[in-house]
Amino acid sequence: MLAELSPKLIAEVQRAAKLLATKSRICVLTGAGVSAESGIPTFRDKQTGLWQHYRAEDLATPTAFERDPKLVWSWYQWRRQLVHDKTPNPAHLALAEWQQDAKKNKQSFTLITQNVDDLHEQAGSTVTHLHGHLWRNRCHDCGTPFQNEVAAWDSSKEAINFDDELVTCQHCDGYIRPDIVWFGEALPGQAWQTAEDAAANCEVFISVGTSSLVYPAAGLAHLAKQNGAKLIEINPDPTPNTIVDITLAVKAGVVMPLLLQQVIALS
Ligand code: APR
Repeated sequence: MLAELSPKLIAEVQRAAKLLATKSRICVLTGAGVSAESGIPTFRDKQTGLWQHYRAEDLATPTAFERDPKLVWSWYQWRRQLVHDKTPNPAHLALAEWQQDAKKNKQSFTLITQNVDDLHEQAGSTVTHLHGHLWRNRCHDCGTPFQNEVAAWDSSKEAINFDDELVTCQHCDGYIRPDIVWFGEALPGQAWQTAEDAAANCEVFISVGTSSLVYPAAGLAHLAKQNGAKLIEINPDPTPNTIVDITLAVKAGVVMPLLLQQVIALS
């Protein structure tokens, strides 16, 4: 696998592995790029990013839902169709293996994601979701979780109904919406607390597949840095982020298994 990478990149992978092998508190933040090799579009990649073709203002804000709930609901039903048969790629699998290894060795390895897909869980990881869950629904008005055969998540994903008819809450008659954090909404409190604690206490913070443009998630790397952590970024199109210590400018699915292999070899 090393042969596929340039000598400069191999040297960077080895530098990252050496650093990681001596540390026992690691925090990883993933974004849409980690699921790109599974066939799920990112938001901001040129050509393929969702926000290149759709306007977030029309589809991913509470105001948009209140203005045109049918449009927003059908867009998320379409996204569910797009995602339902996707499976973890080597990056998800390596992160799951790493987390399990860390647990065995009594090390701390916190995985945080901005993604609403469940590919980290499918790979076997325990993951904190900052931006909610694509497969969950709740009432927009009273917040009650909603689950039945209409548009609900079925663990086998065989009985999903992708109907784009709006559904109403049994308690208050409000419209049912996906349990996703939209622009302008607060992050789930418990998830954010877990993320802040892990970022503030880690020795190495790894950003994988995120443009680091959306706050507060993007602030976690800064919090880690202020508390003395080293930062590693994995992104084929690295962000202009001056606080990063090591940049691995390659696809996550290519480099994550390799990085893990090197860390295990050095540990
Ligand atoms: N491996 C690693 N990184 C990749 C890969 C890959 N195979 N393919 C693309 N990328 C990188 C891109 O270069 C880009 O920097 O992934 C990043 C994806 O960035 P965004 O599309 O902005 O996704 P993300 O950072 O997760 O967005 C944050 O924005 O719209 C909201 O709520 C949505 O959670 C999302 C948030």
